[in-house]
Amino acid sequence: MHFKAEHNSLAGRVILITGATSGIGRSLALGLAQLGATTLLLGRDVAALETLFDEIKANHYPEPGIVPFDLSHEDPERLDALKQVISERYGALHGLIHNAAILGDRVPFEHYKMTTWAQVFRTNFEAPVAMTQALLPLLQQSSDSALIFTSSSVGHSPRAYWGAYAASKYALEGVATLLSEELENTSDIRVSVVNPGATRTKMRQAAFPSEDPETVKPPEDLVTLYAYLLSPNSNAPRGHRFQSDGHHHPLERRAND
Ligand SMILES: NC(=O)c1ccc[n+]([C@@H]2O[C@H](COP(=O)([O-])OP(=O)(O)OC[C@H]3O[C@@H](n4cnc5c(N)ncnc54)[C@H](OP(=O)(O)O)[C@@H]3O)[C@@H](O)[C@H]2O)c1
Repeated sequence: MHFKAEHNSLAGRVILITGATSGIGRSLALGLAQLGATTLLLGRDVAALETLFDEIKANHYPEPGIVPFDLSHEDPERLDALKQVISERYGALHGLIHNAAILGDRVPFEHYKMTTWAQVFRTNFEAPVAMTQALLPLLQQSSDSALIFTSSSVGHSPRAYWGAYAASKYALEGVATLLSEELENTSDIRVSVVNPGATRTKMRQAAFPSEDPETVKPPEDLVTLYAYLLSPNSNAPRGHRFQSDGHHHPLERRAND
């Protein structure tokens, strides 16, 4: 990836970020706004969304939108309303970043609580799938839009004891793969999967409590990669899975067997 995010390179782009209240989502919101994007900040913690809104405004970046939304609740009507509001207020959606997720437990499979399993799948898999379906028409209206699924190393190679988190990310990469194939000849949407890799956030700290946070990269380091995928006329290949250093390969498709 040879890409340098230029000043105002995302000017006029309307980008929705789920899980904008902390970690990677929060850093993306600030970083993409700094590059000129109008960010739509989705989260369930309204106070945290307002603090982020104020920070973006105080920096004189484009005024963001706040989308209070709890992804753990199935709510097709609210998704419909969200689509309406974006369409009426912004007239377009150029980027949708699925970033919000929860970790769940890391225990042997036979001890994994099915209630936790369902919660993790709801937030990490069903919510982004439903939101993609609801907002696809808006992304399709733009001749140059990006749909990004934030996954994990375990979304490509599920790992022992990572339970629903690994399975939900694996399923999400499956949807990204089939959608990328479906949209290939009918739409200009760039579908990408990003594996952010080890990043200094509260999720990372929960997963690796004995790790010194200073030994892993800060979330700001991911802004360039996401900006590359979201830039107008980006030369990023469609239907690829990206690592944080920009290395990428095509999403794997099954043979017709
Ligand atoms: N950090 C890493 O090392 C790493 C590695 C690989 C992949 N990832 C992926 O990167 C993405 C971001 O993770 P992160 O490390 O930044 O984690 P994080 O700091 O825990 O942030 C997760 C975000 O998702 C939000 N969220 C969770 N459940 C939600 C719900 N029901 N409704 C709305 N928002 C909800 C959280 O909101 P609250 O603040 O309200 O909880 C928070 O804003 C995730 O998809 C994760 O799987 C991270």
